[in-house]
Amino acid sequence: MTQPLPSRIQIIGSGAIGSLMAANAQRNGIPYSLCPRDPARLTQRLITYSGQSILLSGNMPVADQLGARDILVLPVKVHQLAQAAKQWQTRLSPQTPVLLIHNGMGGFEAVRKELPKQSLYLATTSHGAIKINHHEVKHTGFGRTVLGEAPDNRDSHSGQSELVLETLSRCLQPVTWQQDIMKGLWLKLAVNAVINPLTAIHNVKNGELEKANFKGQISDICHETAAVAQACGMDLPPALLEENVQQVIGKTAANYSSMHQDIWHHRVTEIAAINGYILQQAEKKGIDVPVNTFLYNKVKSMESRYS
Ligand code: PAF
Repeated sequence: MTQPLPSRIQIIGSGAIGSLMAANAQRNGIPYSLCPRDPARLTQRLITYSGQSILLSGNMPVADQLGARDILVLPVKVHQLAQAAKQWQTRLSPQTPVLLIHNGMGGFEAVRKELPKQSLYLATTSHGAIKINHHEVKHTGFGRTVLGEAPDNRDSHSGQSELVLETLSRCLQPVTWQQDIMKGLWLKLAVNAVINPLTAIHNVKNGELEKANFKGQISDICHETAAVAQACGMDLPPALLEENVQQVIGKTAANYSSMHQDIWHHRVTEIAAINGYILQQAEKKGIDVPVNTFLYNKVKSMESRYS
């Protein structure tokens, strides 16, 4: 049976994950258009995990209007999502699926306000990629991707989920479809709540967190996150979170995390959507989260020292 493929994927921004998706779309014959906010930062080349150099020669001009067989991909930070969705609101057909892929939580709620009727798909990945300069991206860690439908999608249009799954499977493989994607997002939230602030604060690669001196703090963060997740209706025991965090640390040992890179380049980090989200939910549920609070405050104070 032939698998459905989109007419095109329109990828917003020029970040590392969006650029990696564009390069893999090209390698798999999927028409794509990378749409950076600043055209001077358009990614033009991918250095693959095995060191091969791929020129993004197939980048199509940005489409004015997207149809039912196109996919809008929003691989931007949570705080940039509402604005990006607003810009595309009038340029989508009612059947165009919109795929969100980002670290942290709160993203789909922000997009939902702008696109109340659109079918939204949520994904999270542990692939590692960095922009080594404005025009080049390096694939630094081979991870996994999980994908599912937003819990409040009305009626998905026929074949939409298959279209999104087939496409993402070619752009960020391996992809697992998750019926309860919110659980997958919480699992990834715990990974980011540990790796991102610790690597940024201590100025280290992910692999440094394998050392014994981080063990206690990692365990504390996972216990706090599990307690908040539980209060939010997600049954994710701390031992499961810890095991998953250690696995991702091992697989991405040679990477600098995205928050490390943001601090290094004096960019706004995703701390609000990661540890900040845990703090927000903890406050609502009356749970104490001192380690997450410390990490949040520390990264915020690092951001405030940018000149
Ligand atoms: O944000 C990141 O850097 C990534 O999500 C991860 C998986 C922590 C790997 O560095």
